[in-house]
Amino acid sequence: MVQTINALTPLDDARANLAESYDLHFSKAIERATESVYERVKDKIPQIEWSFYAPLIFAINQLKKEKDAVILAHNYQTPQIYHGVADIVGDSLQLAIEATKVKQSVIVQCGVHFMAETSKLLNPQKTVLIPDSRAGCSLASSITVEDVLAMKAMYPGVPVVTYVNTSAAVKAVTDVCCTSSNAADIVNRIEGNTVIMIPDQFLAQNTAKKTHKKIITWAGACEVHETFTAEDIAELRHAYPTAKIIAHPECPPEVIDAVDFAGSTAAMIDWVKTERPARVVMVTECSMSDNVASETTGVDFLRGCNICPHMKRINLENILWSLHTMTEEVTVDPAIIPAARLAVERMIEMSRKGD
Ligand code: 13P
Ligand code: SF4
Repeated sequence: MVQTINALTPLDDARANLAESYDLHFSKAIERATESVYERVKDKIPQIEWSFYAPLIFAINQLKKEKDAVILAHNYQTPQIYHGVADIVGDSLQLAIEATKVKQSVIVQCGVHFMAETSKLLNPQKTVLIPDSRAGCSLASSITVEDVLAMKAMYPGVPVVTYVNTSAAVKAVTDVCCTSSNAADIVNRIEGNTVIMIPDQFLAQNTAKKTHKKIITWAGACEVHETFTAEDIAELRHAYPTAKIIAHPECPPEVIDAVDFAGSTAAMIDWVKTERPARVVMVTECSMSDNVASETTGVDFLRGCNICPHMKRINLENILWSLHTMTEEVTVDPAIIPAARLAVERMIEMSRKGD
């Protein structure tokens, strides 16, 4: 057989570089060492692809020990990351809480940049790495410090609740953070009858239904969730009349009104594990149902999802490269760390009181 290669992709380049230092052949030994992981992902990853992933997974897990590193991975990471190399998985709140407890000296954040910054804020003395620092977020890039200061000037004395999907600099000029799992609790617990809640207009509108307080928001949106419509839900109901439909609160309110449950990524996973519907559509990022499928036998996951291009910048090659070269290191200006950290810590503290 003759194989003709037209052009090398960046991933081929990375693999070629990595192959100089690691054995990336799919040997019998690697097959055996990774078989318990494959058992969990085999319905999602064909054997032919596994022969590429398994050597990387093996090398990453070895290198983690050598470098005293821990991998924190968001629920939107691919199954080979989520099941293969992550030490801790979760939603934004869970990852922030776990970041306060890690013992290792190096954190590799498999998620987007604001998540890595949050880990750094909570661990200023540790090395925090992100395998691709271009992994951004349309919400985080929708608002600047100047925008927040202008809002504060417009509404003097009104507390500012900021979604964790913001830069550390933005967090530093706000009072408290929230995530999609605790937004209503935080808004209800904070002083005053009016709250500025930034930058996600849809999370703010969905939260407004769970509070008597007046919420002033910002015109930011998640590019993955803002595109879902009530018509999409109606079409899904028509196509799959017996399926339950669940969605993330970054979706527009008319979508949330039309679904059976809405919650953070972790809350959606818990809901599926508890309710065990025969058929379910997760209206969110596509890796969610792939990741949870192996832990919920008997549940049929139907497609109704979008891909987050930022989350998908992280892959096994750049995780191994990141650990190999100890790049890309996430830094936060020391001048803003105390204020930004306080906003995150207040959220964690207020969430604990809600337990
Ligand atoms: P969660 O906090 O629900 O994991 O959401 C993070 C996120 O970026 C969703 O788009
Ligand atoms: Fe940001 Fe949306 Fe991607 Fe989450 S899914 S990281 S909110 S762009």
